[in-house]
Amino acid sequence: MSKLRLGVNIDHVATIRNARGAPYPDPLRAARVAAAAGADGITAHLREDRRHISDADIDNLARELTIPLNLEMAATGEMLEIALRHKPHAVCLVPEKREERTTEGGIDAAGQHNHLVPYVRRLADAGIRVSMFVDPDERQLEASRDLGAPVVELCTGAYCEAVIANDAEAVKVHLQAARKSAAVAARLGLEVHAGHGLTYDNVKPIAAIPEIRELNIGHFLVGEAIFVGLENSIREMRRLMDEARA
Ligand code: PXP
Repeated sequence: MSKLRLGVNIDHVATIRNARGAPYPDPLRAARVAAAAGADGITAHLREDRRHISDADIDNLARELTIPLNLEMAATGEMLEIALRHKPHAVCLVPEKREERTTEGGIDAAGQHNHLVPYVRRLADAGIRVSMFVDPDERQLEASRDLGAPVVELCTGAYCEAVIANDAEAVKVHLQAARKSAAVAARLGLEVHAGHGLTYDNVKPIAAIPEIRELNIGHFLVGEAIFVGLENSIREMRRLMDEARA
């Protein structure tokens, strides 16, 4: 099986910083630690309300990072201008609602086709690899392919919530949907990523899906870092991913 890449999402290092309006902890420092611990890329979500990552963070990451930057963003005019200015390795398009605590599900690639076609093309023309964050739903996969996006990231949020609720039936249903979607996406010629809500307890069944090439994980790793340090939390996640893949 191909090696599974790990993208470390550093948003919540910025959340802690912003809770006090202090200049620390620094997301760039976290990104450097993540790279040293074996992260294959860094993911950062620049939200419309700038609740965690700031414009200055994106400037710093784009300038200093030695591993690929995956910029998560909503498909707005403001974000397009920022992405085209920085030209990150990848952009992951996500839906965004101002009141939500975190991204609550995938983007409606099918319903927003006319808006997204020129949007994805502008990013692709600038050499940016576009990924669509979608629910594991065949219609959304086909729509992503039709938009010309080379990558889909499957939202694992519902699966992770079922694990937390200890609902074995729901876990089975969501895992089956993830497996089927990964296979369908690969058949459509899409590179498959996955993420949202992944922890040590739920990562292995997702990491074992052979078509998935990359996981993006953040909140749990930053939380676990309080107890074991960021480097150790990432190394343990890497170990579990490799074990699932073996
Ligand atoms: N992938 C996408 C598209 C996301 O929006 C997020 C959350 O920002 C993640 C992955 C990482 O999720 P988590 O922080 O729950 O690990």
